[in-house]
Formats: sequence, structure tokens, C-alpha cells
Amino acid sequence: MANLLILGATGSIGSTAINAVRNKIIDSRITGLVSYSSDLSELGKEFRCPTLKAEGCSREEIRSFIRNAKPDIALNGVAGTDGLIYTDILIDEGIDIALANKESIVLGGRSILNKAKEHDVRIIPVDSEHSAIYNLLKERKAERLILTASGGPFYDRKDLSSVSVEEALQHPTWKMGKKITIDSATLANKGLEVIEASYLFSVDAENIDVVIHRQSIVHSAIQTEDGAVYALLSPPDMTLPIAMAIDPELSSKAVAPLSFRDLSLTFSAWDEKRFPMLSLAYRAIREGGNLPIAYCAADEACVNAFLNNRISFMDIPAIVQETMERCKGTEPSSIDEILDEARSFHQMAETLCLSR
Ligand SMILES: NC(=O)c1ccc[n+]([C@@H]2O[C@H](COP(=O)([O-])OP(=O)(O)OC[C@H]3O[C@@H](n4cnc5c(N)ncnc54)[C@H](OP(=O)(O)O)[C@@H]3O)[C@@H](O)[C@H]2O)c1
Repeated sequence: MANLLILGATGSIGSTAINAVRNKIIDSRITGLVSYSSDLSELGKEFRCPTLKAEGCSREEIRSFIRNAKPDIALNGVAGTDGLIYTDILIDEGIDIALANKESIVLGGRSILNKAKEHDVRIIPVDSEHSAIYNLLKERKAERLILTASGGPFYDRKDLSSVSVEEALQHPTWKMGKKITIDSATLANKGLEVIEASYLFSVDAENIDVVIHRQSIVHSAIQTEDGAVYALLSPPDMTLPIAMAIDPELSSKAVAPLSFRDLSLTFSAWDEKRFPMLSLAYRAIREGGNLPIAYCAADEACVNAFLNNRISFMDIPAIVQETMERCKGTEPSSIDEILDEARSFHQMAETLCLSR
């Protein structure tokens, strides 16, 4: 039975993982739980493990907590750019990572992946799209990746200028944290995922397609050299990708199998004009340098401002674009430089939000 550390234990990903352990879908012993400021005392009692509220903790305090938990694998379900700090510590400590925090890859890029390789640490993606592709690639090589997107709540709404926070928080198929839910409404989430896929699977932007698939049953697909397409299908429930990442030998049923007789699956193109955040992500990969960092950090600042009613829904892509244009530069080489740049792009986007 593997020792499991859960980072972001009170969030949507963390809670799904905890339920999977409770329900014995994942055969693991929880040896540590981390949140930012939410109380963990009940969970700590239930799993008889140490807990940490990381608010105000130094990197060394976090490192020492992680080390003492002695995990075989850690689930990184922290929301936002701070997730990279945890991924970096886990790699230093030689701990395998089930990675839900996509910001770690979008910001960390090649530096974090190379560092993981050097430390012989496995990064197993949890994002459902990347989990699907990761598992499909075990058996074959891909020529193209096809990422599916639910399209969010506004996929067929013509005018997005007056979108309210409450409307943007209504995701049609997934129940998730607020940041990723807003990102799903602007398609920035898909943008982050395209960048994540490009780094994780070493595929350039031209060979990654995004297709709208309202039902969120096909989690993604790969096309091989011979033209065949392989896809992974399951209900929209993060239990399966989390369980597959934590326990590669998984033998219990993580989700109810699909009944094909009841399925009706649709696919369509996405609209570049109404969803500029996805086009900006493609630009970030094509032009490279520090643009993925600017994209990710500026988006985080903008989503926060939108959630606090400080900017409008369509200000998000406008400010992200402006930050990318002002910040264009080369790819930083160390994780500390990446974190510094992310902080300054975040600040610049916040200043732009204030001027709206
Ligand atoms: N939700 C999904 O279905 C889904 C699917 C694919 C990928 N992801 C990715 O998984 C990550 C988590 O998403 P989520 O929806 O689970 O977010 P969430 O519901 O907002 O939960 C975030 C968790 O992270 C913790 N946290 C935030 N900042 C932290 C910090 N600096 N140090 C320690 N803990 C911190 C929060 O603790 P507090 O409660 O104390 O604030 C909370 O436990 C994101 O990167 C997201 O893109 C999520």
C-alpha cells in the first residue's frame, strides 16, 4: 500500500481523491494533507496523519512537512501558480507526482520537466485530457493530439460583454474550483491545457487540435501515423484520472462503465472570435519564450479581478493580451526566475485591471 500526500486537500481535486481513498478505489495510506487556510483537523483525525495549513509558511517549512510525510507519491491539487512551488519541492525530494496543477507545467515548461527527469521523478498527469493522452500513448505513438473541450456555459451565447460572475460559474458538465470554472467559460482552461500538452508530450501547436464536445465523455484522443484515432471515454468524473495517476495498477472500478446505447456524442469547431483566450494560448506556444508564463500569470490576476467584480468578462482576454505584448522576452532558465517573472506579470496584469 503506497503512502499518499494530498496537496490542496480541501479543494475539488483533493476531496475527490480523499473520497476515492475512503471508498477503497485507491489502495493508499494518506500520510499528509495540505491546504492553504482551510481547517484540516477533522480530516487529520480521520486519516490519523499530520496536516499543514500552508498560509504564511516558508518554503523550508513546507519542504520539511513534505519530507516528514514520507510519501511514495503526492497528488498536487493546489490551485494556481503556487502549485509550481510544490511541484519543485517534490522533485527535489524525489517524490513521484500525480499532477492536477496544470500551472506547474505551463509556467515550469521544459525546466520543470528536465528537472524531473534528472531527479528520476515521474510526473503523471491528472487533468482528464492529459491523463487520457498519457494512457493512450503507453501503447502507441501519436502524430496529432485532439483535446476535447466542453465549451463551457457560453459556447452558443452570441454576446459575451455582459456575462456575470454567477453565470460564468455555472459549468455544464464539471464541478470544480472557481478559478478553473471561470477559465472553462473563457476557454483559457483549454488554452492552459494546450500549452500543458505541448510541453508534456513534446508536440507543437500545429499538431494539437481542440474540438468542442459538449458531453465531456471523450476526454481526448490521439491520431497515429496510419490515420487511426484512439480515444478514452468515461463519465465526467475526476475519480478515474486521479485514481489512474496515483495507482497505475488500479483494479477497482473508479467510475460506472458507459452504456453505449444511451450515448449521443457531438463534436464541433470552437469560435476564435468569441474565445480569444484559446487563440492567445496557441500564440504563446508558437512564439514561446516567456509568453506561456505571461499568459498563465496574467490570466490568474484577471480571473481574480473578475470574481471580485473589478473587470468584465471580456476584459480578461484584453488584459492578458496586453500583458503578453508588454512582457515578451526569453524563456527563463531556473524555477526561481520563472516564479519571479510570474509574480511580476501577475502584478502588471493587476495594475491593468485597476486601470479599467
Ligand atoms: N477541479 C477539477 O475537476 C480539475 C480538473 C483538472 C485539473 N484541475 C486543476 O487542479 C488544480 C486544483 O483545482 P481545484 O478545482 O481542485 O481547485 P479548488 O477547488 O479551488 O481547490 C484548491 C485547493 O488548493 C489549496 N491551495 C490553494 N493555494 C494553496 C497554497 N498556496 N498552498 C497550499 N494549498 C493551496 C486550497 O486550500 P484552501 O481550501 O485552504 O484555500 C484548496 O485545497 C488546478 O490547477 C486546476 O486547474 C482541476
